[in-house]
Amino acid sequence: MSVAIYPGSFDPITNGHLSIIKGGLVVVDRLIVAVLSNPKKQSLFSVQERIDMIREAVGSEPRIEVDSFDGLLVDYCRRKNVKVVLRGLRAVADFEYELQMANMNRHLFEGMETVFLMANDAYFYVSSNIVKEAASLGGDVSALVPPNINLRLSEKLGR
Ligand code: PNS
Repeated sequence: MSVAIYPGSFDPITNGHLSIIKGGLVVVDRLIVAVLSNPKKQSLFSVQERIDMIREAVGSEPRIEVDSFDGLLVDYCRRKNVKVVLRGLRAVADFEYELQMANMNRHLFEGMETVFLMANDAYFYVSSNIVKEAASLGGDVSALVPPNINLRLSEKLGR
C-alpha cells in the first residue's frame, strides 16, 4: 500500500490544502496529514484545534490519518516508516523554498522523495496567512476555506 505524509502548519487548513489532499488520494492509497507543532512559531490555532479542524474538513475518509509532529520532518517520516512527502505548489514563489526543503530532507534521509501537486487554480493565491489577514480585517474568506473553518475563524477573531 502506498502512503505519503502531507506536512504543514495548516493554521488553518484552506481549500487549497484540501485540493492537494484530494489530489494526493489519487496518487497514493493512504495519506497522513501531519500538523507541525512548533512552539517557536506563533500560530492562531493550537495544534489540537488545527487537527480537529482538518478532521472536520476531510470528514470520514478512512484513507486519511491526521496527526501532529515536532522536530524534523525526516525523523517523523522514519518513525512512520514513510519515504514519500506530499507538498502543494502554487505560484512560482513557492518553488525555491520547496526545492530547498526537498533537497535538505533528501540529504537528511536518503531515498526520501517529495512529490509535488499543483494546487487547483481557483486557490492558486490562497495561503493560510493571507486568509488570516483578510479575515482579521473583516474580509469575506468563505469561498477560500471550508465552512467549518470560516466559522472557527469568525469565533477566534471575534467577528
Ligand atoms: O505549511 P508550511 O508552514 O509551509 O509547512 C512547512 C513544514 C511544516 C513542512 C516545514 O516547516 C517542516 O517540515 N518543518 C519541520 C522541520 C524540518 O524538518 N524542516 C526541514 C528541514 S529543511
